[in-house]
Amino acid sequence: MTLTHRLAGRDDLDALRALMEAAIGELQKPFLDEQQVASSRTIMGLDTQLIEDGTYFVVENDGELAGCGGWSRRATLYGGDQTPGRDAALLDPSKDAARVRAMYTHPLHVRKGVGRLILSLCEEAARREGFSRVELMATMAGEPLYRACGYEALERILDDRGGAPVPMVRMSKAL
Ligand SMILES: CC(C)(COP(=O)(O)OP(=O)(O)OC[C@H]1O[C@@H](n2cnc3c(N)ncnc32)[C@H](O)[C@@H]1OP(=O)(O)O)[C@@H](O)C(=O)NCCC(=O)NCCS
Repeated sequence: MTLTHRLAGRDDLDALRALMEAAIGELQKPFLDEQQVASSRTIMGLDTQLIEDGTYFVVENDGELAGCGGWSRRATLYGGDQTPGRDAALLDPSKDAARVRAMYTHPLHVRKGVGRLILSLCEEAARREGFSRVELMATMAGEPLYRACGYEALERILDDRGGAPVPMVRMSKAL
């Protein structure tokens, strides 16, 4: 098994959407009921701004798309293009936390270190841009990964913008 990484481009969009759909539908089943998984589709997913900003990574396993995720210097904490209430304002590295965004691993490639690799790429890039902290909104499926990588829970919320309330946890880490 060889994991390689590169920045995502517009040519990846269809494959990224398919991967996210598989990850949202399959990997949240142990944590959410059917209505909550459906609701998740409104509040999660692809944010094409990250691709335009050059802050979104894909990881391939022996050349096959295995996962994706990114970071952001913009205010939106989580959500896809379709999620209401987004804010593209630029953050100030001297006082704000960079965001970690839209982490997804294909169900066929979980627990191979894809998520851990993407997080380290995000943290390194944010550090290089002068940020000293990162923040994210984790799903229940994502929380174990972030805890394993040193993130601490700040606040638990229920997001009902997609219908059934979905539990989420805001987490952060010092870089
Ligand atoms: C969260 C997600 C990206 C994790 O991806 P992954 O590539 O499987 O994660 P990794 O293999 O890098 O895991 C690293 C460590 O995190 C922890 N971890 C990851 N997934 C876990 C799980 N389901 N249960 C328990 N621990 C887990 C483990 O400590 C793991 O190390 P180990 O495998 O050596 O025990 C993936 O489960 C996913 O796509 N979930 C659905 C979409 C989602 O909710 N994304 C998060 C949005 S905030």
